[in-house]
Amino acid sequence: MERTFVMVKPDGVQRGLIAEIIGRLEKKGYKLIGLKMLTLTPETAALHYAEHAGKPFYPGLISFITSGPVVAMVWEGKNAVKGVRTLMGITNPTEAIPGSIRGDYGIDMGRNVVHGSDSPVSAQREIAIYFKEEELVDYQRDMDKWIY
Ligand code: PPS
Repeated sequence: MERTFVMVKPDGVQRGLIAEIIGRLEKKGYKLIGLKMLTLTPETAALHYAEHAGKPFYPGLISFITSGPVVAMVWEGKNAVKGVRTLMGITNPTEAIPGSIRGDYGIDMGRNVVHGSDSPVSAQREIAIYFKEEELVDYQRDMDKWIY
């Protein structure tokens, strides 16, 4: 099973979309194995978005992502990285298809409600920023035999 890192961004929290986002991932069949609410420090935000340092949108991204609490999560499932990205929709909410989270709830590029890892390597890196291994929960669900 693959793990991916998902974050409800400050706009998603402020707009009351935490349950909606968790519900979509849960109903799809992914398994939640880690969850915490926190406000990112500029240092954590810089670590998370290190690959974008120097890009024109970087200062706005750091200021936005540290502007209020976020919900950080780890989800598990077959091909979870790609599957969650599909549920989220593409980065620009104006172009994200209706039915996807960003397609349904976003308008502006800088306010796209949710983050999901873009590869298994990124997922591993991002999970390690937010969670210690012992904070991730190992449990079985009976319903998995109806999903796989
Ligand atoms: S790139 O250069 O194509 O790799 O960048 P992209 O994948 O489009 O975006 C990387 C992350 O930066 C966020 N972003 C922004 N945030 C705030 N304001 C603006 N203008 C902006 N433009 C891009 C974008 O949502 C991506 O965040 P994550 O959390 O990875 O989805």
